[in-house]
Amino acid sequence: MIKKCLFPAAGYGTRFLPATKSLPKEMLPIITKPLIHYGVEEAMEAGIRNMAIVTGRGKRALEDYFDISYELEHQIKGSSKEPLLKEIRHIQNSCIFTYIRQKEMRGLGDAILKGEPLIGAEAFAVILADDLCVNDDDGVLKQMVKVYNKHKCSVVAVMEVPYEETHKYGIIKASSQNGNIIKIADMVEKPSNENAPSNLAIIGRYILTPDIFDILRFIKAGVNGELQITDALKIQANEGRVLGYKFDGIRFDCGSIEGFVKATNYMYNKS
Ligand code: G1P
Repeated sequence: MIKKCLFPAAGYGTRFLPATKSLPKEMLPIITKPLIHYGVEEAMEAGIRNMAIVTGRGKRALEDYFDISYELEHQIKGSSKEPLLKEIRHIQNSCIFTYIRQKEMRGLGDAILKGEPLIGAEAFAVILADDLCVNDDDGVLKQMVKVYNKHKCSVVAVMEVPYEETHKYGIIKASSQNGNIIKIADMVEKPSNENAPSNLAIIGRYILTPDIFDILRFIKAGVNGELQITDALKIQANEGRVLGYKFDGIRFDCGSIEGFVKATNYMYNKS
């Protein structure tokens, strides 16, 4: 059973400055819901009710968002606007939120390690909220939980990207493939086109076994001087303990302006 989902949400979101000067990038809305709201819904659909959020300075809006606003509730009660709060109320009523701060930006691996006190010694999911995933049928995390329940090892969501873009992602090297499930032999963070072992990129959905914390504690900083989750997963992969999952659905890179606009148009046309 995967019971907890970790949301690393401490990054600056510099690509969206000046908006992200005082607004966490995870709070940028796609139509009416902030990015993190979509991530939490995806985790809930996967049966998860415990949301662990790694925040940083200037990110209080995240905590406020998942808390009750008495004043607003009072003002809006009984009015025609009340249904607009239905979805967030459902989240507030069904989930537990825990928070911890990453004090210094030392990379995604460090952010995940900072979440350890919120997770403990159990396998857990990770959602990077700026990768927005949609699917008409089961959501991407729900699909991955099924893979985890069967194989009981770390699982990463992967998709093919153009070779010119491998430098933006963790890239995997497969040892074998069975349908949508790939046994991973090795992986590398942000390789150049020439050094990429494939064009299969890891996107922001992970299921991690808890030994990942011990690995993160002993590995050294990698690309960009940051502690990389890909480097920690590489160690599990070398031991044959990581599966790649080619998910059903669409992923929008909402960390880029172009992806954000595409996601907005997609959601608008769908609504
Ligand atoms: C992070 C990971 C990378 C992964 C990507 C998915 O990179 O380090 O391995 O492919 O997320 O979005 P970032 O986008 O934070 O540079």
